[in-house]
Amino acid sequence: MRTLEMNSLEGKRLLALVRGGDYAHAGEEEAIDRVFANLPKRSGQWLLDVGCGRGGTADYVRRGGWGRVVGIDRDGDSLDEARSGYPGVDFVAGEVCDAPRLLSRRFAVVYLLNSFYAFEAQREALASLRRVAEEGARLLLFDYVDRGGFRHDPLVVNGRRILPHPIERDAICGELEETGWKLVSIEDLHEEYRRWYVGLVSRIEERASEIVGMGGEESLDHLRAVYRGILRKIERGLLGGVLLTGAAV
Ligand SMILES: C[S@@+](CC[C@H](N)C(=O)[O-])C[C@H]1O[C@@H](n2cnc3c(N)ncnc32)[C@H](O)[C@@H]1O
Repeated sequence: MRTLEMNSLEGKRLLALVRGGDYAHAGEEEAIDRVFANLPKRSGQWLLDVGCGRGGTADYVRRGGWGRVVGIDRDGDSLDEARSGYPGVDFVAGEVCDAPRLLSRRFAVVYLLNSFYAFEAQREALASLRRVAEEGARLLLFDYVDRGGFRHDPLVVNGRRILPHPIERDAICGELEETGWKLVSIEDLHEEYRRWYVGLVSRIEERASEIVGMGGEESLDHLRAVYRGILRKIERGLLGGVLLTGAAV
């Protein structure tokens, strides 16, 4: 079977089809509203969307009135689509660890929706993001969390590890502290993730013929394996979701 990389342009296009928008995170707009629920809306503040993908979240945040948004992502092809779809957002191509070199301003809010799990160098990423954050800036980290069993029983599809580095509760607190962030709160979203993946798995079936039309039978098989696989790990209590809030110190 040909391996479809879900973080590739093609993978994100298929995800946008089943998620009904340019989103590649659990819970789509409901999740964005949840992440930003307690964040004051200030037209003059700057927010950084890290691992912004196709830019749907960045534009939703901008339209919602939370402030002005810059997105950064290493996938230049996704950013080309983001730029043409969302001219109100600035998009910068590059690695998260290069953010201090690539970005010319500091941010009041730094947020990541389901991108941290993909970073090979999470500690370095947090340190880089601290360097582009204003004093007292807010960090919003929405991602998968290893509930204790995932690292010993990871999800592997076609020989590739899906969700390679979910948040590990024990490690993240120290990493934040060492990189100039203070942990403010951690909210479990395990039940929400379960519900969101039940919905996603059923939308894949509803749109099966369109998926085959876009990417062939192999893409449909791959999407099924990945998202049914994630749902099974959540249902078995190995994997969940969290919203972690931090502050720059
Ligand atoms: C699952 S997608 C999430 C996209 C977006 N946050 C959203 O909610 O739709 C993960 C994104 O992180 C990006 N990414 C992964 N590793 C990265 C890195 N080291 N530096 C910058 N971007 C990265 C990928 O290219 C991809 O667009």
